[in-house]
Amino acid sequence: MDERNIDIITEDIKLDGDKLLELKNNNEQFFIMKGRRKTYHILTYGCQMNEHDSEKISGMLTSIGYEETDDEKSADLVIFNTCLIRENAELKVFGKLGEVKGLKRNKPDMLVAVCGCMMQKQEIREKLLKKFSFVDIIFGTNTIHELPLLIYNVEINKRKSMGIVDNTESIYENMPKQRKYKYKALVNITYGCNNFCTYCVVPYVRGREKSREPNEIIDEIKTLAEDGCKEVTLLGQNVNSYGSNLDKRVTFAELLYEINKIEGIERIRFMTSHPKDLTDDLIKAIKECDKVCNHVHLPVQSGSNDVLNRMNRKYTREHYLNLVEKLKTAVPDIAITTDIIVGFPGETEEDFLDTIDIVKKVEYDSAFTFLYSIREGTKAAKMENQVPDNVKHERFERLLEVLYPIILDKNKQCIGKVFPVLVESFENGKLTGRTEHFRLVHFNGSKDLIGKIVNVKITNVKTFHTEGEIVE
Ligand code: 5AD
Ligand code: SF4
Repeated sequence: MDERNIDIITEDIKLDGDKLLELKNNNEQFFIMKGRRKTYHILTYGCQMNEHDSEKISGMLTSIGYEETDDEKSADLVIFNTCLIRENAELKVFGKLGEVKGLKRNKPDMLVAVCGCMMQKQEIREKLLKKFSFVDIIFGTNTIHELPLLIYNVEINKRKSMGIVDNTESIYENMPKQRKYKYKALVNITYGCNNFCTYCVVPYVRGREKSREPNEIIDEIKTLAEDGCKEVTLLGQNVNSYGSNLDKRVTFAELLYEINKIEGIERIRFMTSHPKDLTDDLIKAIKECDKVCNHVHLPVQSGSNDVLNRMNRKYTREHYLNLVEKLKTAVPDIAITTDIIVGFPGETEEDFLDTIDIVKKVEYDSAFTFLYSIREGTKAAKMENQVPDNVKHERFERLLEVLYPIILDKNKQCIGKVFPVLVESFENGKLTGRTEHFRLVHFNGSKDLIGKIVNVKITNVKTFHTEGEIVE
């Protein structure tokens, strides 16, 4: 497929009613003829934002008569929802596309679509078009609503198609969503990011920060609650700056108070908090709103002021430690989790020791740790003093040696205590759920408890999970 042979849709185009009807009718015909619906399988890479985008893709496909299948080999449509945050995410997608190439050779009618953050970059789209010319549809993070049109182009017009909008001011409300869980839901509150941390590709691919109107968010959560949802996770690259672009300004703290009033919702989570925007009002809201979980994911990235400055994080280690102190004073049992990058360009042994030091001081309940990965187009990619791979790996190992015993120790402090746990699944003969502090708990019980909140006493702990038993 080369760019001349595909329809490239670069403006916001809505699928008109007639085409939508034709597409739906076609799928109904398929159902009548074959006795089964057309199936789709989505491979989702990356963060919760992508997970939620995949729920929107599912919703769009269901609305035009498709059905989900777990088996990619038998699917009529395979969709890759891609991630670009680190190099290994990108490599995984290309590896898997290689596998699907073989599949498509034996099943030429199968459609393959690629979307998500990787597709927002022109160089990657070009590489994809060259190396994987069997791909039928490409769309971006701002064009999910156009998927039926793109499918229409392939199925009816027999044209490969690409829908990309580099940046948009519009937010598409009321897209159908097929949520993975009934009792917990992801809810976007902002899209995009304005922070330009120097290592990060997100602002380049997801565009500028845009907040949803508060009434749209509240209405969505009320509907979820009416359908039996107990826990919502509010999503944004930096939820703390929610509302800054709204005509009628509403802060994130004010939004939390409003969501806290919604009947039926029992837990409110949010991701991700940028330390530079975590206000006293927000700390007060976490303390005062009974449904807001006592857990804050507060990415520190590094404990060195010099590195933080070159990362453009706009806070110091002292400011961060002060925030942690304020959080712990306001909410004594608060769980704090974080993201840490090891081996940012120019990171010295001394800088790294500052990271180790902050990890010890904060005593994180859990952390995601990453090796710095060069991302083309970012400022850090052009920095000259890149840290050699062996040094990065050695520091990474040393970080884990400090971090894991802290996490285990935090878990040990839970032994003998009772926590309400939202039961999420039944795997290997055990129920699994999370405490409000985001601790994973395995325990015995019957499957019909899934979606309910039960009291569980912690009896045994490991680094990455805990075990317990239901108590009255
Ligand atoms: N290399 C390594 N980690 C990164 N992250 C973002 N960009 C990079 C990169 N280039 C991490 C940050 C962020 C998390 C979502 O991913 O820690 O908080
Ligand atoms: Fe990336 Fe920084 Fe924005 Fe997070 S806040 S998405 S790390 S630029």
